[in-house]
Amino acid sequence: MRILIVGNGGREHTLLWKLRRDAPNASFYATRPNGGMTGICQGVDISPTDVVALAGWAASRRIDLAVIGPENPLAAGLADRMQRSGVPVFGPSAGAARIESSKAFAKDLMAAADVPTAAYEVHTDPDLAAAFIEAHGAPVVVKASGLAAGKGAVVCDTESEAVRTARSMLDGAFGQAGSQVVIEEYMEGEELSVFCITDGEDYTTLLPSQDHKRIGEGDTGPNTGGMGAYAPVGFVTDALMADVGDIVIEPVLKALADAGSPFRGLLYAGLMVTPKGPRVVEFNCRFGDPETQAVLPLLSSSLLDPMMAVAEGSGLGGHTPVFEDAAAVTTVLAAPGYPGSYPKGAPISIPPLPGDVQVFHAGTSLADGQLVTSGGRVLAVTAVDPDFQRARRASRAVARAITFEGRQFREDIGWREASRRGSSSGAAVALE
Ligand code: AMP
Ligand code: GLY
Repeated sequence: MRILIVGNGGREHTLLWKLRRDAPNASFYATRPNGGMTGICQGVDISPTDVVALAGWAASRRIDLAVIGPENPLAAGLADRMQRSGVPVFGPSAGAARIESSKAFAKDLMAAADVPTAAYEVHTDPDLAAAFIEAHGAPVVVKASGLAAGKGAVVCDTESEAVRTARSMLDGAFGQAGSQVVIEEYMEGEELSVFCITDGEDYTTLLPSQDHKRIGEGDTGPNTGGMGAYAPVGFVTDALMADVGDIVIEPVLKALADAGSPFRGLLYAGLMVTPKGPRVVEFNCRFGDPETQAVLPLLSSSLLDPMMAVAEGSGLGGHTPVFEDAAAVTTVLAAPGYPGSYPKGAPISIPPLPGDVQVFHAGTSLADGQLVTSGGRVLAVTAVDPDFQRARRASRAVARAITFEGRQFREDIGWREASRRGSSSGAAVALE
């Protein structure tokens, strides 16, 4: 069996790691693999967004499964092209990927399907945007409508900051992605990332997780692609997950299918769990990064089987994921300056790892055999342990022991869960 992973970040290293466990005898390929993927797969030197060349390569190599990691190739139509070339593919069509690639599309779809989300307006004119912000008041969230690598949303505490942000986005600070801005109500609550594997109709959810979007400890500073994650999340109950299925996932899958763009792949619902129930912050058309690095190490059943079922169109029925009764905590190490500009090429040193710790590579490469930094998010350290606090300590200890110049990481990944577990209130009881 030949499996192609498209993408070379931490999420893709984790997908490769898990699929190799599921299919130890398969041959694995990845586009421009990072320094951690290089030794465990064969590299394919084609850009993921060169959809014609990559689908042609996959067809000529008779690839049995192509798994598309990032959103950009999906938005560019790589899954459509693979499918037309006869390559079984796990990942949605460009039409379905609009749920992430256009926030305006996602918002309109949610409104039509009655899915709870923040009230919003879409603007292209800076003066009308400013008038709406002034009428609405702060806090308010200003977002570039297009793809902006997780950095296109700014939570603004004052009206003047919001007006400034909207103007700078419409002025081109995010390029084409900011030619439309979405201005939306600020929602209060706890965030939750829910991954669903879906064939367009049926779906199954994976273990929910929680990301840490801000660069700074205590969830301060600018948004990033994600500085850490953990799973499972203590406040999640069966009743909450039933609500998420009934009022979020099912209506959205149906709306996409009705619109002629059934979603086949991984639908990621980014939720705000409010006192009034779950509300959608955003949808993504792919696995989350770094949540994947926390969720997949806990998945004891096959990931390959449901992916193949979706890719071959045989239906998801019967593939229910099974998770280890343990916790995973993932700490991301980032380059100095991230999420702004950062240097590349710093030598990385990784000490010997304890048994239940995995280091997934993101922005790394090999230069004459030396592992060096090559991106903003460099490595993700995942520790798995039956005890959440021990997993948290192990993840942090290994992150501290890894060195490269100017590295930054948050020491407080999982702090919400830790305070829930540490308290004697009801939250701790909900964990049983
Ligand atoms: P997004 O780019 O839409 O994923 O937003 C990035 C982050 O900004 C989210 O993970 C939230 O932490 C925050 N955020 C976005 N929209 C809202 C909102 N309406 N209310 C509160 N926080 C938000
Ligand atoms: N961790 C958030 C994302 O993947 O978009």
